[in-house]
Amino acid sequence: MALAVTALAGAGVGLAQTAEEAAGKDSMQAARPVAKGATQDLSKVAVPDKIPPGYRAWTLISVAREEGATDDLRAILGNEAAVVALRSGKYPLPDGAIIARLAWSYDALAESAAAFGKPQSHVAGHPKNGLQFMVRDSTKYAASGGWGYVQFDDGKPSDAAKQQACFACHTVVKNRDYVFNRFAPDPPNGIAGN
Ligand code: HEC
Repeated sequence: MALAVTALAGAGVGLAQTAEEAAGKDSMQAARPVAKGATQDLSKVAVPDKIPPGYRAWTLISVAREEGATDDLRAILGNEAAVVALRSGKYPLPDGAIIARLAWSYDALAESAAAFGKPQSHVAGHPKNGLQFMVRDSTKYAASGGWGYVQFDDGKPSDAAKQQACFACHTVVKNRDYVFNRFAPDPPNGIAGN
């Protein structure tokens, strides 16, 4: 993933930092390229501050594995508005769409090693690297491309400065309405939900 970010950055966005350096680390705020408009009064910038109810039961959009310092396993979930749009690849996503990013430690499953006779499976361990959301509201979050970005650490929401840092990196995929993940394809002959 870091490679992908770096490669995309080389395509002209000018990002020097990898996802693992940036995600979930407060120190990134100083180092991140500053989004256009970041000179605005951040105290006036709207940031989501509540964990959306029911997010844990949302639909799986995709999964991701972060290497390096971030070293985690993640699930990307979406509410119905987000999933309907992403499934059909319709951009921009409509207002009301919300995407959640959950992350856990990347742990070897001891029982799997016993079953295979060698280390094999890795599974989700303890939650780490915060709980992140992107909330689509083109009016409220106009200052950050129509998305409100927030990371909850122990239930505490991040601030407007952090939101600008999230926005700056997600600008790499501006052409996909700032959303990196695509909807993971259904298994062949599987039953498509939604
Ligand atoms: C240095 C780049 C970078 C920064 C900074 C960053 N992200 Fe991301 N984000 C990514 C990449 C790459 C992905 C896709 C891989 C993944 O799912 O982890 C992603 C995925 C996501 C997703 C899933 C939807 C999507 O775009 O695929 C959410 C939600 C998200 N990030 C929220 C945030 C929030 C909130 C912040 C700030 C607190 C933030 N991100 C900061 C690079 C970044």
